[in-house]
Amino acid sequence: MTKTPVAIASDHAGFDQKKKLVGWMLLQGIDVHDLGPYNDERVDYPDYGALVAEEVSQGKAISGVLVCGTGIGMAITANKFSGIRAANITTPQFAELAREHNDANIATLSGRFVDLETNKKILAAFFSTPFGEGRHADRVNKIKALETPVDNH
Ligand code: RB5
Repeated sequence: MTKTPVAIASDHAGFDQKKKLVGWMLLQGIDVHDLGPYNDERVDYPDYGALVAEEVSQGKAISGVLVCGTGIGMAITANKFSGIRAANITTPQFAELAREHNDANIATLSGRFVDLETNKKILAAFFSTPFGEGRHADRVNKIKALETPVDNH
């Protein structure tokens, strides 16, 4: 059980998988904060990507999950926020590497091109793989140094 929740959201293209992934995460004992949407009506992915990125950026969530059609729009959105390292992940191996090498704190998933079972495996790897530290920390620190202080709120 994580102390601070994992924030999750989607757009309409990711809604069905988001709903199922929330159920699966609860079964894993993960504290989930579902930021919507709560039905499959058409919505704009930046609106929901921003909700999760803001929670992670502010430390209200330990990490985040975003599901859209490809995961690409959600990653582009989330990476606008301070302290966010969102990775668009399509395989369990990339989930491990995004954590180990990049200290990614948001996984963005494809609800249209990656099946549910693979996305569960991706999240299992994402949540269980620690950051590699060492040389990887030196590189992530260089990413952090590139951040321009901006007010996203
Ligand atoms: C919605 O049609 C689609 O553009 C969106 O879900 C996502 O794939 C954007 O990156």
